[in-house]
Amino acid sequence: MQDLRIKTEMPLGVIRQLRPSDLPKFREHLLRLDVESCRDRFNGPSNEAFVAAYADRAFRAGTTVIGYVEGDEVLGAAELHEIEGEGEPTGEIAFSVEAVLQHRGIGSRLFQRLIWHAHALGYTQLRVTTHPQNQAMKKLASRFNARLRFEGGETVGLIELEPATEIFAPQVMPQPRRLAA
Ligand SMILES: CC(C)(COP(=O)(O)OP(=O)(O)OC[C@H]1O[C@@H](n2cnc3c(N)ncnc32)[C@H](O)[C@@H]1OP(=O)(O)O)[C@@H](O)C(=O)NCCC(=O)NCCS
Repeated sequence: MQDLRIKTEMPLGVIRQLRPSDLPKFREHLLRLDVESCRDRFNGPSNEAFVAAYADRAFRAGTTVIGYVEGDEVLGAAELHEIEGEGEPTGEIAFSVEAVLQHRGIGSRLFQRLIWHAHALGYTQLRVTTHPQNQAMKKLASRFNARLRFEGGETVGLIELEPATEIFAPQVMPQPRRLAA
């Protein structure tokens, strides 16, 4: 059942890559999307069976999925799927933030993290596809310098990335925790 309470506080969750064991939480997130968000996410009407099968497939196919996680719930996600057969390493990206949390900057944080992962994986271009009326996605894409063009009823955004170099290594490397004496 969809939670219709309006969240007014700042989002306190974390943005992190989802682990294989997060699949059920990712699936639940996609299934909780309201009708409009679901249509925008999948570029058309979809049903529960389709969305559930999609989530399973995404994890099996080695897609990178970044989540916005609060407690043990995934409430937003950004996906990076490889598009094979292109001249250069190309990814298709997609986003979903649950309605009660939209407009709070979570989509932008997910986008930023996804670009970091895409870069680290050596992708040099990313595509995002949506319908021409999806203002939120169009704004989000233009914020990250995506060139948007209109193609056969769909809006396709293209983001070009610099090839990966050592300069983009993480600034702070996590250190293993010391074992207690
Ligand atoms: C697209 C989506 C991921 C954006 O997430 P979000 O958390 O609301 O994004 P942010 O809060 O970071 O906002 C990003 C920009 O979009 C704008 N925006 C957000 N929702 C909007 C809306 N409903 N209408 C118009 N603009 C909107 C914000 O004002 C912001 O613009 P700015 O940079 O000029 O301030 C979210 O709306 C969503 O999940 N939509 C349904 C699924 C979808 O459309 N996915 C994209 C296609 S794969």
